[in-house]
Amino acid sequence: MSLAIQNLTPVIGAEVSGVDLSRIDDAMAAELRRLLADRGVLVFRDQHLDHDAHKRAAACFGTGQLHCHPLAAASGSGDPAVLTVRATAKSRFAAGDGWHTDVSCDPAPIRASLLYMHEMPESGGGDTVFASMTEAYALLSQPVRELIGKLRAVHDGALPWRQGYGREPEPGTEYNRTSHPIVIAHPDSGKPLLWVNRGFTTRIEGVGRLESRALLEMLFQHIEATPRLQCRVRWEQNTLVIWDNIATQHHAVWDYFPHTRHAERVSAVGGELMAA
Ligand code: SIN
Repeated sequence: MSLAIQNLTPVIGAEVSGVDLSRIDDAMAAELRRLLADRGVLVFRDQHLDHDAHKRAAACFGTGQLHCHPLAAASGSGDPAVLTVRATAKSRFAAGDGWHTDVSCDPAPIRASLLYMHEMPESGGGDTVFASMTEAYALLSQPVRELIGKLRAVHDGALPWRQGYGREPEPGTEYNRTSHPIVIAHPDSGKPLLWVNRGFTTRIEGVGRLESRALLEMLFQHIEATPRLQCRVRWEQNTLVIWDNIATQHHAVWDYFPHTRHAERVSAVGGELMAA
């Protein structure tokens, strides 16, 4: 197979053609890992994958171990490693409709996610916007880099539940809560990158409550209001997108209500994060 690569922007994202993800061999997996480390987001059109092929493709990334999402069992896929991402006319919120990295609350967060699109909303919409966290860090001023380089922040798995449903998680449900450095080193390139996100990060340790809130809000706005960090993926049925979940954040735009969008995600676990 010979790959053709079309960048989405100079900073982030590429559309890749000439690859059948249901038949990746070791050489292709190595090439895709290299490309992902370089571009952060890879878009593949016209893929045909059942659950096993989807999981085999995901296992080429990270430690090879697949992530079992706490909500996967209830999501309807019937497989703990396959998370159904579905919004319909009955949905009160759509998963991923807000800037986040996937489960950054885990001690060893997801390294890469592979989302496969089954059904697109019939009147358009349903894009996903991605942002580069290496570029977000690179664009910060030196005094701010020095300040946040010494700090850690707490990421709480209950936060998306509170934000989505507007109430506390069901009693007895356990979500991870982990402290990570705010600036981490990318596991492949070693480049420093910003590791806080509105979806999971609740507070900065060792500073006052108001200082934490103001600092986090400044960093979130830097990410969300700087379009040059971002690329926008327009999906089609049978598109599969792989994102580097350490080097990027994303926002799945819920602009298609009351229509249905249905996809499935399989994610590969990575290692513990290291300060830059
Ligand atoms: C997610 O956050 O994993 C879902 C992304 C999407 O639906 O585009």
